[in-house]
Parts: sequence; structure tokens; C-alpha cells
Amino acid sequence: MNIQNLEQSFSTYFNSKPEFIVRAPGRVNLIGEHTDYNDGFVLPMAIDRAVWMALSPRDDSQIRIRSLDLEADSVFDLNSLTKGKGWAEYIKGVAYELQNAGYSLRGFDAVMTGNIPRGAGLSSSAAVELAAARAFAATSGFAWDAAQMAKFAQKAENEWVGVNCGIMDQMASAVCIEGHVLFLDCRSLEYQLAPLPEGISIVILDTSTRRGLVDSAYNERRSQCEEAAFWFGVRALRDVGVLDFKRKTKEERLDEVVLKRARHIVTENARVLEAYKMMKAGDIKRLGELFNASHDSLRDDFEVTNDALNIMVSCAREQQSCYGARMTGAGFGGCAVALVREEYAGEFTKNVSDVYRQRSGLEAGIYNCRPSEGANLVNR
Ligand code: GLA
Repeated sequence: MNIQNLEQSFSTYFNSKPEFIVRAPGRVNLIGEHTDYNDGFVLPMAIDRAVWMALSPRDDSQIRIRSLDLEADSVFDLNSLTKGKGWAEYIKGVAYELQNAGYSLRGFDAVMTGNIPRGAGLSSSAAVELAAARAFAATSGFAWDAAQMAKFAQKAENEWVGVNCGIMDQMASAVCIEGHVLFLDCRSLEYQLAPLPEGISIVILDTSTRRGLVDSAYNERRSQCEEAAFWFGVRALRDVGVLDFKRKTKEERLDEVVLKRARHIVTENARVLEAYKMMKAGDIKRLGELFNASHDSLRDDFEVTNDALNIMVSCAREQQSCYGARMTGAGFGGCAVALVREEYAGEFTKNVSDVYRQRSGLEAGIYNCRPSEGANLVNR
């Protein structure tokens, strides 16, 4: 990202220099899929792809934003927020939640740009939300509380935008630090940051497929999980251990589909706990096996993969340099993530992209990414 170009664009639109530059990253989830809304565990990291905003406060309550990528403008007033459609809703939603919580906000002028592929499962929307929160903190002069801002951003997405997501994406975009992965308990929001072990590359494999009906399938999975939690007599599936699961489903009958959904969540939570331990112990081979088991469970039990994701994951796993690979994000299209021996990452990328093209007829987008810092004010 070229900060000078961003500053230059701001000057072109607003005839002055921007006072602040803020940035908020996308994320890739290493393991713990669909566990966040079950009060469970996740292991994501912020990636070195992000949303940037150059901005200056205004003396009134207007927000004027130019999206350089979409070549579109949005203008609205903080005193009369009304719902509309499109990219600016993420920013309005954050403004609404902050004001609702008592923050007094100033208007600002901004230009915005980013390099997170949209709709790919890398949380470009959480990045816009956190960039907006960071922008309000800078221009309105309040202290930055990363976890608290993640909660407002999630609320904005749930209630303003109307997408029923969990807390993982916003927390990853808010609290991560460079070189580290985030181990998060989605019930207590307690978290730990641990360094990504040396010698491995995290490679994101974009299938180039996107599926439209993700929202309804996502909400259906959520209600099946709630149904299962009710059946187990617990607050959320996080409270069911692998052994409890086996015992109870042997003794009593649970609808087959609901049972499969629950089995994914229960085993996935156990995998996250083990994966975090293995990562700290440097046991990358076992970590890779857990990646593989996670994908298989998402494919067979949670049923959120598509053909392209399954093809991509097998292309990756066939490479000797690959420890493990799985789909990442909500599923139904988007990206997979692979754990690869660092010195072979170049060769891995080339081979996977060739084989994937042959088998699927599609062009993969492949990014070797590094764990990056959460939402921040860019020093200039
Ligand atoms: C989307 C949601 C997250 C999480 C994942 C699945 O990314 O926004 O909250 O539920 O799907 O793990």
C-alpha cells in the first residue's frame, strides 16, 4: 500500500492534507470454524491485507467518504443516520453503535482503499468496520479500546447491516499483533497472542468461487447449533465435550442432521485447543493433521464446503511441502488456507495453481501472507 498515493488522493478530493491515516486488516482463520457463535474457541490471525483511510475531522456532523476502489462517494450526517444499501452501511453502523453507547462523534472527510479480496472469507467487512472505529477514535479523540471496538463493530454488522456473524472477525481485525496468531475464547473474550512458529508459511488459496446464499445457509447452521445445544441441555455447544457428546448421542436419539452439525462444533473446539498447544510446542506436523481433520468435518458434518474448496484442499494436500489444508471462513466458496514449509512456498504456489486450473477450470488467487497488526493509526 502506497501511503503517499492515498494522501495524494485525499488532497485531490478535499484540497488539503489528511490529518490521520488509519488501517484495519482482514483475517484468515487458521482453525475453529463456526465455533465463534457457539461460544467456542478460534485461532485466526490478522493478515497483511487491509483497508486504509486517510481522513481529517470536520467542524460539523457530516461524514464524506470517497471509496477509491469502488469509485463511489457516500455522504451522511451523524445526527440523522438512516439505513441504506452498500459499503457505507458498515461505517454508518459503527457510527450508530458508538453514538448509542454515548460516544460523541465528529464528522470527517475521508478517502478509503483496500486490498482484501471481497466476499472471499477474509473479512473485508470487519476491516471496514474497524477502520471506521479507528477513524472515529482519531477524529473524535477518544481512547482506543480494541476489544470494546470489536464488540461495537460486531453489533453494527448484526443490527445495522443485518448479518448475524460471530465475534471472531472483528476481534482478529482489532486486537492482533504482528507475527502472532490469536487464540480467542468467544464466550469470555479472553485471549492470548502467540508467535507463529518459524519456518512455515500461511498460504491463502482463493478458489475464485463466491456463493450468494451464504447468509441463509449460515443462519440455518446457527439455528441447528442452537437446537443441538437445547437438546444437550446447555447454554451453547461449547459446553459439550467430546465424551459427553458420544455418550449422550448413543443413549438418546437426535435428528441426524442436527447431530452432524453438533459433532462438527464439539470436535472442532477440541481441535482448536489442541492446535494452539501444538503451535506453541512447534509440532507443525500435528497442527497440519488438525487442519485436515477440520476441513473433513466441515465437508462431511457441517456441510459448508463446495466442490471448488474440496478440489483446492486436495491439490494443496498432495504437495509434499504441505502440512495440512482446510477451508477458511464461512464456507460455500471463498478461500482455503494451507500450512506450508516456508522454503518451498514458491514451488507450492505454482504447483497448486497449475493443478487447480486443470481440475476445476478456474484461476486460483494465491497469497502467502504474514500475521499483521490489528487496527492502528499509521505513523507518518
Ligand atoms: C464468518 C463469520 C464469523 C464466523 C465464520 C465461520 O466469517 O463472520 O463470525 O462465524 O464465518 O467460522
